[in-house]
Amino acid sequence: MKLNILFKVLVFVAITLCCVNACDKNKGDKTEVIRLSHPYTRTHPSHFAALTFKSYVEAKLPNKYNIEIYPKESLGSNEKALDLVKQGSIQFLISSSVNLEYYDRSFALFSIPYLFVNEKAFENFITNSLIIDKFKVNVDKTGFIPLTAFFAGTRSFYTKKPIHKVDDLKGMKIRVQAGPFNIRMMQAFGAIAIPMSFGEVYKALEQGIIDGAANNEIALVNEEHGKFAKYYSYDKHQMCPDMFIVSSKFMERISKEDRHIFEKAAKKAQEVQIKEFYKSRKIAKEQALSLGVTFIDVDIDEFKDKVLFLRQVILDEIPEIDDLYNEVLIFNKKEINKN
Ligand code: GCU
Repeated sequence: MKLNILFKVLVFVAITLCCVNACDKNKGDKTEVIRLSHPYTRTHPSHFAALTFKSYVEAKLPNKYNIEIYPKESLGSNEKALDLVKQGSIQFLISSSVNLEYYDRSFALFSIPYLFVNEKAFENFITNSLIIDKFKVNVDKTGFIPLTAFFAGTRSFYTKKPIHKVDDLKGMKIRVQAGPFNIRMMQAFGAIAIPMSFGEVYKALEQGIIDGAANNEIALVNEEHGKFAKYYSYDKHQMCPDMFIVSSKFMERISKEDRHIFEKAAKKAQEVQIKEFYKSRKIAKEQALSLGVTFIDVDIDEFKDKVLFLRQVILDEIPEIDDLYNEVLIFNKKEINKN
């Protein structure tokens, strides 16, 4: 009798073990859905970069991951999506460095006005992986890892009324990316800073909530901001990248080999993004002209004079960026010596 019971228990344990094993096996075979969110249209260079990222990973790890790309803030504005990255429900996000400042103050480096001497210095800086590694030191606190950075050209003003001199900005309502130093910079220019997410700018321009914004030329056409803001003034006050970040919860639970593939894919995506950016910007400028946008050259020094003091303010308030700032100076010097 006792033997009979023992036999039944053994059979039960064996079946349970088989089941667990089978379930685990099925789990391993299942394709995992991964979400990549960004705020751009499907014709933006960073969307092409996202597609490159997807194809690379899916080709190297067939049937293991299915990367779903969500453009145009369809999973929420970056400000909100960042919390979901932290929780791990969005795995990848392309976000302006400005949006990351609230999580890791070192990204405020890029909010320093007139930081780089030219775009080449900016490009060389953000494509240097040793530099990007320096932005990874606070991962335990932020919950995301910057994989790479995307190029976003130079930000200048585009407005409904023309800006020829810095005084023209006085009292104008200008949208800024929601970051503490962007608000202060706009106030130093004499304008009224209106922080809002990228996706809200079109409506705000249409409805007259703002008189203008600042961005690279692509926004005039891709986001159709040029329909309302007919003047683009080249004061060139800021160069900040878009960071391609991944949830650290996700990266920690996958294998070292897979992690390596995601990292490689991000590097490939960066190469594509930069090439596409230059192409798109050239086309955007031509298209903006045919939309009736006027491009204005201004005396850049006049604009610089108003905001340059912020450089020291930011360095004093965030001493942890000293080392990164000194690196920028080295990249700048290389460019200055070339000329
Ligand atoms: C640029 C940048 C975006 C950012 C946007 C903005 O286009 O590439 O990442 O979101 O500006 O002004 O918000």
